[in-house]
Amino acid sequence: MLRTKSIEQSLRDTDDPEYQLKKKLTAVDLTVFGIGVVIGAGIFTLTGQVAATYAGPAVAISFVIAAVCCALAAICYAEFASTVPVAGSAYTFSYATLGELVAWIIGWDLVLELMLGASVVSQGWSTYLVTFLDEIGLGWPSAIGPADAEHFQWGHLNVAAVLLVAVLTVLVAVGIKESLRVNLVLVAVKLFIVLFVIVAGLFYVSGANYSPFIPPSSGPISSDGLAQPLIQAVLGIKPQTFGVLGVISAASVVFFAYIGFDVVATTAEEARDPQRDLPRGIIASLAICTVLYIAVALVITGMVPYDKIDPSAALATAFRDVGQGGFATVIAAGAVAGLTTVVMTLIIGTVRVVFAMSRDGLLPMGFGRTNPTTGTPVRITVTVGILIAVVAGVTPIGKLEEMVNIGTLTAFALVSIAVPVLRRRRPDLTRPFRVPFSPVLPILAALICVYLMLNLSIETWLRFVVWMAIGFVIYFGYGHRHSRLSTER
Ligand code: ALA
Repeated sequence: MLRTKSIEQSLRDTDDPEYQLKKKLTAVDLTVFGIGVVIGAGIFTLTGQVAATYAGPAVAISFVIAAVCCALAAICYAEFASTVPVAGSAYTFSYATLGELVAWIIGWDLVLELMLGASVVSQGWSTYLVTFLDEIGLGWPSAIGPADAEHFQWGHLNVAAVLLVAVLTVLVAVGIKESLRVNLVLVAVKLFIVLFVIVAGLFYVSGANYSPFIPPSSGPISSDGLAQPLIQAVLGIKPQTFGVLGVISAASVVFFAYIGFDVVATTAEEARDPQRDLPRGIIASLAICTVLYIAVALVITGMVPYDKIDPSAALATAFRDVGQGGFATVIAAGAVAGLTTVVMTLIIGTVRVVFAMSRDGLLPMGFGRTNPTTGTPVRITVTVGILIAVVAGVTPIGKLEEMVNIGTLTAFALVSIAVPVLRRRRPDLTRPFRVPFSPVLPILAALICVYLMLNLSIETWLRFVVWMAIGFVIYFGYGHRHSRLSTER
């Protein structure tokens, strides 16, 4: 369980022609890829929700706090990605440092993050599609559209989300370069929409809406956060809606908006010069998104008083509220295009992680073979696509986001800790990119991740425990015995 896969072996495995991915991506491709997955449902929907319920205009500060957490994790990812440039991201890094069991746990967390993230964002996409179709007077039958928990019944099928996942799965199976080309166009549309919101919105900002910037605290947050009893027990402080603690709680929610920059690291093997370009791609996409998020948050809360912000489609509705319905339609259309790239990139990320796990024998190896014509692991892609579509199709919206956050935060914390561990175990490796002030920064990163995890609900923790239990059953029932490290010995 503690056996590690040497970095040299990880690199050697990538030469096996049966499991080889094509090396085509440049630093710009990687940054586009990162932005493609990061800017999504988080900024388009959560900004409004969180401003209205937790933080008011200070949601901009929440975005800064979440960005600090992600930036610390990002530089840890960057050091790893530049040292161990193979597919599978955090999973591979930890296989080389913390042993097979921890690697399995991280891989399993990443599958949760990426696969469930794809389902959640495809549901968000379907919500925007329906909004857009309504705006232009077409409409979509609600029986086969998105349903929230209140209107959801078993047997309901979100056909819009299923169709989106089906089309994207085919694109991904056909080849990553081809799908990146589609991605590039859609990312451009998305950036345009976000910049449009910022620039056009500036004309409608009223300084009065920023006061109070941090609304006074008004009682405890929803009773289901684990942090609440913990903070109360340890510090004697009651967590609040609004107020400074509200702003911190909001940070744990808007964290979702940054999820995805780590996916850049899952494409390491397809990068032309991973040691130079991966750190650049990861850090550039995170930096660009942070600036845009803060700007959007400030503009939206400046346009509409925080207690009147629409919690579901804030970016579009803010413009309708100031008498610009046409702008609202354009923004809804842009959100549809923008969320498409998020779902696609998350599918690609999931496939890469499962690919790496099956190449190592922790999942059936036949599963990971690349198709000779497309150069992509077609079997994994199709299986992953079907699972994402089923979850997106048959679950109510607004229920699974926190699961995505908990899986990601666990992986971030473990990767951060792995940085000083690997430095001690393998000081000899070339590290083209190094985290400054190690081990202080990596430990700080892990602590912040754990703190944010404590803000997630008990329900989420229970679901997470079930997910991990399934993972352990698979590992001990299959992976442990079939691992390449055990069979080739
Ligand atoms: N960060 C991605 C989003 O906001 C997952 O949709």
